[in-house]
Amino acid sequence: MDYDATSIPERYRAARELPGPVMLRWLSAVRASAPLPRGSKIADVGCGTGRFSVGLADAYASHVVGLDRSVKMLAQVRSRDRHVSFCLADAEALPLRRGSFGMLFLSNVVHHPSDIERAAVGFADALQPGGFVVVRNYVREQLRDVPYLTFFPEALASSREMLSSSREITAAFGRAGLTVVSRRTIEQLVAASPIAYLRKVRSRAYSDLAALPDHAFEAGVARMTTAVSGGWRGSLREPIALFAFRKGSRIRMRSRS
Ligand SMILES: C[S@@+](CC[C@H](N)C(=O)[O-])C[C@H]1O[C@@H](n2cnc3c(N)ncnc32)[C@H](O)[C@@H]1O
Repeated sequence: MDYDATSIPERYRAARELPGPVMLRWLSAVRASAPLPRGSKIADVGCGTGRFSVGLADAYASHVVGLDRSVKMLAQVRSRDRHVSFCLADAEALPLRRGSFGMLFLSNVVHHPSDIERAAVGFADALQPGGFVVVRNYVREQLRDVPYLTFFPEALASSREMLSSSREITAAFGRAGLTVVSRRTIEQLVAASPIAYLRKVRSRAYSDLAALPDHAFEAGVARMTTAVSGGWRGSLREPIALFAFRKGSRIRMRSRS
């Protein structure tokens, strides 16, 4: 999806911001998945508004470069942290020196490039031997457990088309010489209450909702509003997978949910 052709960038920060404890949980899971020497260079590929870039720089005491192909998403970056820089770039042609990065981090990005396998070859190329690619993403087989999609059958169907399964992601990266070394699912708390979740969904900052025809979006919002007004007590957690891939690794995979 071309984010510059949508109005997602203006709404993304407010709608998708993670509360401090949730962000810390992610950063701690990323660090556990990808133990890097202090000071290793990190790229946040498809960084968007830089939601993870600053946290990664702090968590690893490293320099992070955030890369995104959307001018409008990068225009929303608010960080002035001197350990983080941002650059307009396409994940399928990264302007990174060969063998120079300890980790590439991709949050909700792997379903966007037109050819993820080709992009993965570029990721492997930018990594030092033993370097990591960490992928945080919704995966196809867990979409039925994403609560808001219950109210948006068309978005559930399009997300099934758009997103890859864990197996497909692992295979694409594997063909690029990146071996999966860990995989887990984090049930991320996305809102403090059903009404807060409805507000978030209504802001339409999820790319599958942004891509729906207006009438389908409005019908889904109406269904969710009726449910929430009627005391809906569904889950406020969305399952998001976290993979770590390693360049040139023969380590056996650790997996837990
Ligand atoms: C769902 S947002 C995720 C942003 C950020 N990683 C986060 O988790 O908040 C997806 C981002 O990927 C970017 N993107 C999509 N395709 C891309 C590509 N081929 N190269 C670089 N960035 C891309 C979009 O512009 C958008 O900012």
